[in-house]
Amino acid sequence: MGGTPSVLDPQGAARYIADLWWLLAGLGSAIFVLVIFYLAFALWRRSAGRGLVPKATLDAPLANHIPSLRPVILGGIVLPIAVLSVVSFATVRTLRALGTLVTPDPLTIQVIGQQWWWEVRYSAYGFETANEIHIPVGEPVAIELRSDNVIHSFWVPELHGKLDLIPGRTNRFVIQADEAGEYRGLCAEFCGVQHANMMFLVIAQPPAEFAAWVAQQQQPAQPPTAPMAQAGQALFLAENCINCHAINGTDATGDLGPDLTHFASRRTLAAAMLPNNLGNLGGWVANPQHIKPGNLMPAADGLTGPELQALLAYLQTLD
Ligand code: CUA
Repeated sequence: MGGTPSVLDPQGAARYIADLWWLLAGLGSAIFVLVIFYLAFALWRRSAGRGLVPKATLDAPLANHIPSLRPVILGGIVLPIAVLSVVSFATVRTLRALGTLVTPDPLTIQVIGQQWWWEVRYSAYGFETANEIHIPVGEPVAIELRSDNVIHSFWVPELHGKLDLIPGRTNRFVIQADEAGEYRGLCAEFCGVQHANMMFLVIAQPPAEFAAWVAQQQQPAQPPTAPMAQAGQALFLAENCINCHAINGTDATGDLGPDLTHFASRRTLAAAMLPNNLGNLGGWVANPQHIKPGNLMPAADGLTGPELQALLAYLQTLD
């Protein structure tokens, strides 16, 4: 399910952001050390009975008490101007560098923020998935971000900075993974009770592997062959499941919840909360409110044990 994502392990556009981070961290640390040094120096002078202002000055008329203006000008004006100029210049340069990551006709993936999961549409290829964004490695990919509910924020720390999903508008940026692998992403804007569990994976694949994945996702679901899975499918189509979920190749066309056409090919459940395996799936279908309180999926508590097993068997055929 991806390691802990780190902004300090950057690829693509995230490199510019990490460079800026190091600059700020370096400057901040240098200033901290400088201030602590002067503080320690002043304390030492005082404890040594010397004071910052020499005794001769203290004994002199009041006008002479004003210490030299030089440290004030240097530390209070010159140094801040220099530091802030460097920081502003570096920030503007980083923003400009991010703005140039535009390619003429990149693969565009639409990502729609739901409460609390990610709808992922590959309009160019005519299919939809959820919580898992596959991209070809080494190629720029445009991500178009939308929301129909509240503000979310799309963040894959290793690949790019954050970008908000704002109701009523489309935000767009370009990401690129330089190495194949799994990158963990998360929602970075508080969006309700399960905000912290609104995660996703970006899976960067070699182009041939990506093309194979696309071809597989474009297929309708294969009808189940085992009797138990067939019974599960009949249940799925007869129960409330179809009010919210779509499975291409069946009569299920709901669009409130994740598209399940190739559900079993996905690595995680519940927006990257859990690995997608039989045990977790059983727990999820039986009582999703226990795992993720407040989400829109009702419990399948009207099902008997064997019915639940049949349903799970069917869902597991959707690869
Ligand atoms: Cu979506 Cu926080």
